[in-house]
Amino acid sequence: MPWQHIQIARFGGPEVLELVTEADLPRPGPGEARIKVLAAGTGFTDTFIRMGRYPDFKGPLPFTPGYELVGVVDALGEGVTAPAVGTMVADLTVVGGYAQYALRPAATLVPVPEGVDPAEAVSLPLAYMTAYQMLTRAARVEPGARILVIGASGSVGTAMLDLARAMGLTAIGTCSAHNMGLVESHGAQAIDYASGDFVAEVRQATAGRGVDAAFDAIGGAHFARSFAALAFGGVLVGYGSQTMATGGEGLIAAGLGLARLKFWTLLSPLFGRRRALWYSITDHRKAHPDQFAADMATLLGWLQQGRIRPVVADRLPLSAAADVHRRIAAGGLGGKVVLLPW
Ligand SMILES: NC(=O)c1ccc[n+]([C@@H]2O[C@H](COP(=O)([O-])OP(=O)(O)OC[C@H]3O[C@@H](n4cnc5c(N)ncnc54)[C@H](OP(=O)(O)O)[C@@H]3O)[C@@H](O)[C@H]2O)c1
Repeated sequence: MPWQHIQIARFGGPEVLELVTEADLPRPGPGEARIKVLAAGTGFTDTFIRMGRYPDFKGPLPFTPGYELVGVVDALGEGVTAPAVGTMVADLTVVGGYAQYALRPAATLVPVPEGVDPAEAVSLPLAYMTAYQMLTRAARVEPGARILVIGASGSVGTAMLDLARAMGLTAIGTCSAHNMGLVESHGAQAIDYASGDFVAEVRQATAGRGVDAAFDAIGGAHFARSFAALAFGGVLVGYGSQTMATGGEGLIAAGLGLARLKFWTLLSPLFGRRRALWYSITDHRKAHPDQFAADMATLLGWLQQGRIRPVVADRLPLSAAADVHRRIAAGGLGGKVVLLPW
């Protein structure tokens, strides 16, 4: 049976995203399940992978991009007994989501509860899980904590603001001037990062105290500014090197940013017991697959109950993938664009 997917045959701009048709369905191997994809998430990280700048994926070419998917189990490979054919599942794929069918290890699939919209559920595996695990597993924030979300208007940023509301945290978020309304609509205090010194504004907003936790994917020298916004005993979680990805800083500056995180934690008593650490969703899942499954189940449950509300900015066919990547690069989407392959 013919089926379609997006293929990248060389790294480059959005034009390298090509819609191709295959003649026969892929067959699941031992331990695998074939998924009929109902919704594929798109985001900044996909554009980073497309350009060949993502440290954790450099090919081989050609490949199908798409960091996350929700779909229905369609066939099982040898030795797989669960999840059963017909079960709706979600997965963090890193690549492979922009397709009508995908082969996945059955062990990483998380069942999606009844009544959940696949397009909303596909917002969870990357952005919401990153935000949730950074809050609960990395920073381990307590209800009532004050948090600083750098890049609060982005996918991970808005997910974190939504979770902060659900978890009873007070959030301050940095963003562009034109996104301040969006950040405030999530119940957070917005700071325009381009107009002044956000560290001074955070101090002012917290009566000089600073925040209990800060989350920063800008990376490089920016980590030092987020660290300076922490309260006594606070924690900075670094999770990206966005300035390197967009060409604003080089590899050395990004590497120095990572080294700083280790240095601050090593000498924490000299820095008012402030700490800093690095979080990566793929590394964390590799080390703790059980936590990944448990946290996904928690978030899917919250979605079913209406406790969290992911914003789906648009629902488009696979053929729109290149346009979607252009829109992601332009910024200001205010939510996730989801590809619906059928
Ligand atoms: N380590 C992990 O496990 C992990 C997981 C997921 C994502 N990430 C990384 O996290 C980053 C964000 O991903 P995303 O999907 O949320 O991207 P996104 O939706 O494109 O959001 C990025 C946000 O960064 C903001 N921004 C740009 N420059 C800024 C600055 N100087 N100060 C403050 N904010 C700034 C932009 O805000 P305005 O548009 O308002 O300017 C934009 O909203 C990426 O680097 C990604 O690779 C890491």
